Amino acid sequence: MTFYLTTPIYYVNDRPHIGRLYTTTVADVIARTHRLAGEDTFFLTGTDEHAAKVVDTAAERGLSVQSWADQNAEAFRSTFERFGISNDDFIRTSEPRHKSFVDGMISDLVATGDVYLGDYEGWYDSGQEEYVPEARASEYDFKSPINGKPLVRRKEENYFFRLSAFSDELLAWIDTNPDFIQPVARRNEVLGRIREGLADVPISRSGGGDWGIPFPGRADHMIYVWIDALINYTSAVEPEERRKYWPANLHLIAKDILWFHAVIWPSMLMAIQKVPGREWMKLPQKVYAHSFWIRDGQKMSKSLGNFVDLEKLDEVVDKFGLDALRWYLLTQGPLGTDDGDFSDSRFLAVYNADLANTLGNSFHRVSNMTSRYLEGRFDQPASDPGLRARVEEIRADDRRAPLGLEALSRGLDLVRAIDGFIEETQPFKLVKQEGTEGRVAEILYSCAETYRLASLLLWPTLPQKMEEVWRRMGLGEYATRLAGKGMGELENWLQWGGLEAGTTLEKGPPLFARIQDE
Ligand code: MSP
Repeated sequence: MTFYLTTPIYYVNDRPHIGRLYTTTVADVIARTHRLAGEDTFFLTGTDEHAAKVVDTAAERGLSVQSWADQNAEAFRSTFERFGISNDDFIRTSEPRHKSFVDGMISDLVATGDVYLGDYEGWYDSGQEEYVPEARASEYDFKSPINGKPLVRRKEENYFFRLSAFSDELLAWIDTNPDFIQPVARRNEVLGRIREGLADVPISRSGGGDWGIPFPGRADHMIYVWIDALINYTSAVEPEERRKYWPANLHLIAKDILWFHAVIWPSMLMAIQKVPGREWMKLPQKVYAHSFWIRDGQKMSKSLGNFVDLEKLDEVVDKFGLDALRWYLLTQGPLGTDDGDFSDSRFLAVYNADLANTLGNSFHRVSNMTSRYLEGRFDQPASDPGLRARVEEIRADDRRAPLGLEALSRGLDLVRAIDGFIEETQPFKLVKQEGTEGRVAEILYSCAETYRLASLLLWPTLPQKMEEVWRRMGLGEYATRLAGKGMGELENWLQWGGLEAGTTLEKGPPLFARIQDE
């Protein structure tokens, strides 16, 4: 089984910030979840380089566009690496492999008649690099709904994509594939807008300089940056050995760019599929649009100076560790339709409650007692039927979290079950009584075994700490298998009894040290 997921490709006019890191981190957790389950996973991220604002910011800094793009693309690549992102490829739209694929695809769309030459007169949102239909422009009061800057009037000769021709086919597709656009509220918004009618979209620009991909056969026109960008998802898997990954299982994005992914992109694919040799270019299975991070209840913006930028993120990682940041992003983030709030006090509260006091403390208690009462070793894998039944119950729970991320809360529930079990059985009291050695060993083995199961479910979100747990449990083989993007054997590993007789449990320092409010 293959699983292909993508993030947006990010504009290189700026460095990564929490928004971009968030989408990429959520994608990383999803990718790890699928690899752990043994699926042949392909995880793509990268940079979108041909936007006009990239040209503008380069000019402001007195740099050539290419060197500004190189510098920022490198900042994205190295930041993602530093933040533990396990992408399988990093695509830049300025790369030859992408440019030639785009060129071929647009030529084919000209040949089918789905791209034609016409005149455009209308509004443009230059911050978003987006054409705005007349009706919407007045509704927005001629200002960008995203950044508030005035829309600009554009009148030019353009090539157009015949989007209007696909409205019925697209509605039918969305209808028969109810999961195609998620969450449901976003799906309904998109459906509403499609039903208002689809106008053809400009896909080229003239007079915009020479930074971009030239329109085939018309070097005075550049392909519109959004059309160029969307195609990245297919140019990355064009090589024969990667074709098996297409169609993508998931395009993970935020709500700001849903229209492009849920309407324009699938329509382009419907058009291109008709071309002999391009039948493989089917529609992706799912487009998931999350919401936005805000800061202390306020929108983040340059002018307010309250962006959670890279410096801030590095500070958080220095203080709490990378896994703690990942945990906060995943559990407090704007995955659904509500925005997520980034606040220092909330971060600390979540860190102490979930990580220090629950995940860390539970491991510490179990390994501490094992060390004191059993000399750190499990001689016999005898289990307590009660805890085991509780574990089965948690595993069988059919709750579904968006994007298949339910493992995270299940893992936390397993650890809570350990704590409850310890409270109930009180091994620290039992040990003082005669003839309880067997029972104490059984209790502690069952706790450690449950922690092992939890660690597997938590690994995609907390890879560093859970690999540390595996090391202390003598289960380095899991990490070895998963290293270098290897595939796991989750179903086998999740069988009760994986901790074998003779296993030693190393105590070590706290996994998540408690941190006091300053
Ligand atoms: N280059 C286009 C995407 C092309 S995809 C074919 C683009 N780039 S972007 O750099 O502006 O990134 C937008 C994406 O960054 C959002 O869709 C989202 O994934 C992420 N975020 C940017 N700011 C965000 C928040 N404040 N909160 C959450 N995610 C946000 O658009």
